[in-house]
Amino acid sequence: MEQNEQTISVRPRNRENEPLRFLVFSASLRTASYNTLLAKIASGIIKKHGAEVDYAEMSEFDCPSFNQDIESKKIVPPGAEEFRKRLLANDAFVISSPEYNASMPGLLKNMIDWVSRFSPQPFNEKHALLMSASPSMAGGNKALWSLRIPLEHLGTRVFPDMFSLAVAHRAFNTDGEITNATLAQRFENNLVAFMDLVEAAKNYPCIKKAWVEFLGEQPDLVTERVE
Ligand SMILES: Cc1cc2nc3c(=O)[nH]c(=O)nc-3n(C[C@H](O)[C@H](O)[C@H](O)COP(=O)(O)O)c2cc1C
Repeated sequence: MEQNEQTISVRPRNRENEPLRFLVFSASLRTASYNTLLAKIASGIIKKHGAEVDYAEMSEFDCPSFNQDIESKKIVPPGAEEFRKRLLANDAFVISSPEYNASMPGLLKNMIDWVSRFSPQPFNEKHALLMSASPSMAGGNKALWSLRIPLEHLGTRVFPDMFSLAVAHRAFNTDGEITNATLAQRFENNLVAFMDLVEAAKNYPCIKKAWVEFLGEQPDLVTERVE
């Protein structure tokens, strides 16, 4: 290759016929958690639409409080290692998160902080769908806006549409389904739209374009910009 030749990189389309794989979990440790109910419904819908689900419990990803002194001794909590492994083994992830004091639960942010320290950083370029359930009228939606910040900071492609189930203590029937049919359909549509995007990203990647910033610049590692 000549020194100044631009490189066009294309992700290989070699997994076209494999089913999509989704890591799904609730960020609540509570036994009767509404978010766990919602995560279970999401798992059923994802399977119904032909993808594989890797369902996880938050307890599998439990980590001690992040401490850079521990990290500098190269100690990695098993919960962080487990999450990294599961994240990398799936095409995308779905979190159903409680809202605590208008934000995400501390244990979720703590786990994200630990996992963000791996290199390569495993959240980068993963797709995520965020959902919540709460007895409140807003369904815990503020937790999802707070959760977006670290995930987007880490390069996760967070799906624009989020789902928040309001008045969660009255929203499920005895079979653990969303009682309101319109709401249940909306939830399913939200998941299917997310699945379509993940499918497109996995099987129909765009060609990456490279260009130089100013006319007359010679492309090299310093001046090259990649979209
Ligand atoms: C420490 C704490 C703070 C909470 N703060 C909020 C809040 O800001 N907004 C809200 O909608 N619910 C809040 N709740 C209520 C939770 O939404 C409710 O407990 C919910 O059931 C938790 O989710 P889970 O059922 O999945 O465990 C809070 C609960 C706790 C324990």
